[in-house]
Amino acid sequence: MSNTTVPKTNNAPLKSFDEWEDFVKARYPEEGHPSSTKNQFQSNDPNKKLEQFRDYKAEARSSVKEFYRLNHTHQTLDYVLAKKRQYLSKTNRQMGIWEAMEFLNTLVDDSDPDTDLAQIEHLMQTAEAIRRDGHPRWFILTGLIHDLGKILCLYDEPQWAVVGDTYPVGCQYSERVVFAEFFADNPDSRNPQLQTKTGIYEEGCGLDNVNLSWGHDEYLYHVVKDYLPEEGLYMIRYHSCYVIHREHEYGYLMNEHDRQMFAWVDAFNPYDLYSKSTERPDVAALTPFYKELIAEYFPPKLGW
Ligand SMILES: [Fe+2]
Ligand SMILES: [Fe+2]
Repeated sequence: MSNTTVPKTNNAPLKSFDEWEDFVKARYPEEGHPSSTKNQFQSNDPNKKLEQFRDYKAEARSSVKEFYRLNHTHQTLDYVLAKKRQYLSKTNRQMGIWEAMEFLNTLVDDSDPDTDLAQIEHLMQTAEAIRRDGHPRWFILTGLIHDLGKILCLYDEPQWAVVGDTYPVGCQYSERVVFAEFFADNPDSRNPQLQTKTGIYEEGCGLDNVNLSWGHDEYLYHVVKDYLPEEGLYMIRYHSCYVIHREHEYGYLMNEHDRQMFAWVDAFNPYDLYSKSTERPDVAALTPFYKELIAEYFPPKLGW
């Protein structure tokens, strides 16, 4: 395994992507998980839930808060459109899926290497958890590749433009986006046209017509969209959009097809969030199975 450390810059408040992912997991604890604080969430009292929601913000590490501050300040509509122009032509490199996994695996955090899983292990853990539950091969493959968009980080993109929960831009912000108060520093919040309920969109226009904040989900969706069933593509494109799939906000931008497909996003989310606590996968032993699975759906090289 390579041990290239991602250079720290002022725009890299997180020691590792795990810091953000652990925060999300704490915010959405698994039902029935012994280490979860789900009991406090099981109350039917909405005020109680809100109180706990605020607690998570209070308990967030300062690095996580700073990460959200940067994300919410800089993810303007113009920024998202510029990143789409930059990346969606997919001309940065030609690379196979397995190659991209190895490339991503060079992304080693500067936190403890014994406790922090390499990215390839998170991918295999997610896929193995899906396989254990008897899901179809495309679903297993979706689990395996769902975070490959994080290679954006290896193109020197700042952390806040690679990970973090995503949300619509170009219309009003939902208060259910965590640390929504940081949107006050986003220039779009001072543009009234971008702050109406539907903003630049139309009611029921469908999420395909909505720009979400830029990150690894949207990037990977465009890389793989010709090769996977639509259900898997929804999982990839929206897995970080907690404000829609967990908070059920922005329903007025969705169409009926989105609503049906989001059942698959919901089905995927537990595998992403909670498979990390399972045992470390034997990467070498599992490699032949996954290389064969990749070859079943993908060409040897694709544009990134
Ligand atoms: Fe992800
Ligand atoms: Fe993930």
